[in-house]
Amino acid sequence: MYPVDRHSARLSLRELVIDDVEAVHSIYGSPEVTEHLSFAPRSRTEVEGIVSRSIASATASPRDEYALALVARDSGELTGYVRLALDPHQQRAATIGGALRSDFWGRGYGREAVRLLLALGFLDLDLHRVWAARAPMNTASAKTLLASGMTEEGVIRGHVHVHGAWRDSITYGILLEEWSAGDEP
Ligand SMILES: CC(C)(COP(=O)(O)OP(=O)(O)OC[C@H]1O[C@@H](n2cnc3c(N)ncnc32)[C@H](O)[C@@H]1OP(=O)(O)O)[C@@H](O)C(=O)NCCC(=O)NCCS
Repeated sequence: MYPVDRHSARLSLRELVIDDVEAVHSIYGSPEVTEHLSFAPRSRTEVEGIVSRSIASATASPRDEYALALVARDSGELTGYVRLALDPHQQRAATIGGALRSDFWGRGYGREAVRLLLALGFLDLDLHRVWAARAPMNTASAKTLLASGMTEEGVIRGHVHVHGAWRDSITYGILLEEWSAGDEP
């Protein structure tokens, strides 16, 4: 599916453009934002590569990755970088993840963003299951995923290698029938 065009009350999901590099770098270059992510803060050059690859993957056929800009509807500002990736070895399943600019934290945007990704997955992509993984210490992510209607499912031991060590992940999932019973984003 291309292009993605989904809205909630305050946010939109849209395809990335190369002019988004600076805004994405303000997220992925930040030690605060990446504290619990699976990588160290990215340089501007690395972010340029990420955005370029995201743009290229958007028009792949079949498309298996939706790396998108999360935008505030009132100002048009890029507030987050989010991603839904189809699971290569599962039927109608995908993983979601992402990060918000830190000055947007704590106002319900994270929950709204997850609900938008779930709407993309279930309504546009006809998925059956969506899941996410967080670092054990990432309390904000735990609360956001639960507040979005997802269920904690378990631990993947030694899931990611970050800051020189293997780290576990806590996983969350939601099925189509559970999502349908919840609120629209
Ligand atoms: C995780 C993240 C997306 C949350 O975004 P947010 O806009 O601040 O979250 P919301 O305002 O929608 O809050 C959702 C819930 O989380 C809680 N929460 C948010 N930040 C929190 C924090 N630092 N500590 C404890 N709870 C927190 C809120 O109180 C709310 O819970 P409630 O519904 O029970 O009141 C944001 O902190 C972020 O981008 N972090 C860096 C990247 C990251 O960790 N991504 C997730 C990877 S799995």
